[in-house]
Amino acid sequence: MSRYPNGLRGRTAVVTGGAQGIGAAVVKRLCAEGCHVLIFDKSAEHGKAMQELLRSVGLTAALAVGDVTDPVAIRDAFAAAPAHWPTPTLLVNCAAGFVFEGLAATPDQWHAALDPTIVGLSLVTRAFADGLPERDADAAIVNIASISAHIAQDGYLTYNTSKAAVLGFTRCVAQELAPRGVRVNSVSPGTVWNANNERYHREVLGLDRATAEAAPEHGGKFLLQRFADPAEVAAPVTFLLSPEASFITGVDLPVDGGYLAV
Ligand SMILES: NC(=O)c1ccc[n+]([C@@H]2O[C@H](COP(=O)([O-])OP(=O)(O)OC[C@H]3O[C@@H](n4cnc5c(N)ncnc54)[C@H](O)[C@@H]3O)[C@@H](O)[C@H]2O)c1
Repeated sequence: MSRYPNGLRGRTAVVTGGAQGIGAAVVKRLCAEGCHVLIFDKSAEHGKAMQELLRSVGLTAALAVGDVTDPVAIRDAFAAAPAHWPTPTLLVNCAAGFVFEGLAATPDQWHAALDPTIVGLSLVTRAFADGLPERDADAAIVNIASISAHIAQDGYLTYNTSKAAVLGFTRCVAQELAPRGVRVNSVSPGTVWNANNERYHREVLGLDRATAEAAPEHGGKFLLQRFADPAEVAAPVTFLLSPEASFITGVDLPVDGGYLAV
């Protein structure tokens, strides 16, 4: 039985990469659910802007600025949660390295891809688990993978390898933390219409959202013939964190408008 009859209300969540995009949508949703939320993001500028945005709708979140690959920054981030908040029992790992290269990738590019997405993921998860009581059947982790974890995409070797590793990481950590009651899952979003994707489609492809969604090689690859809004990823993440998902661990949930179904 959950110690939290009100679901997520009153609990503390840490969201890496929570200043923008999917992470920001998760932060907003968890704040709205009544969680205490700590954003851990390397961008002070976007982190503060996110706090402002939340304030404008009557919500608040704490901010720790730092890189998920830096053990000192991770220690400081967990210490930055206000003392009156309960120990964090919810973790969402969104921060990632966005490096898109094929076999030509240099060692530096491989590090830029794998260090945040896998090494940082591991360090943050370890710090989170170390802070939990010996057993906590309400604790939950959600890692953000991608449809790219499941498929080959030309020129995406570095990114897709890093995201495939998130699936393996999720299963192994689910096994390792299961004796302590902690659930660990991932979600695999398809294309999510955030600021970066909007800029990429406009500047590189010369497409606005409606035109891109109507194109067979873009939106047409999704059964639903469109991209996702960040809130549509935040919702299943919230479900996987919640006591409603109490018997779900070690799985990946595609949130992809049917992309992987065909
Ligand atoms: N946007 C998509 O279409 C899409 C699709 C599938 C999966 N994803 C995954 O979702 C997650 C979020 O992606 P997004 O598109 O919302 O990204 P985004 O670029 O909008 O936001 C990423 C946030 O992470 C922060 N960040 C990056 N590296 C960091 C680090 N080393 N330490 C701390 N913070 C760091 C950035 O400052 C930024 O605020 C990523 O794991 C990404 O791979 C995104």
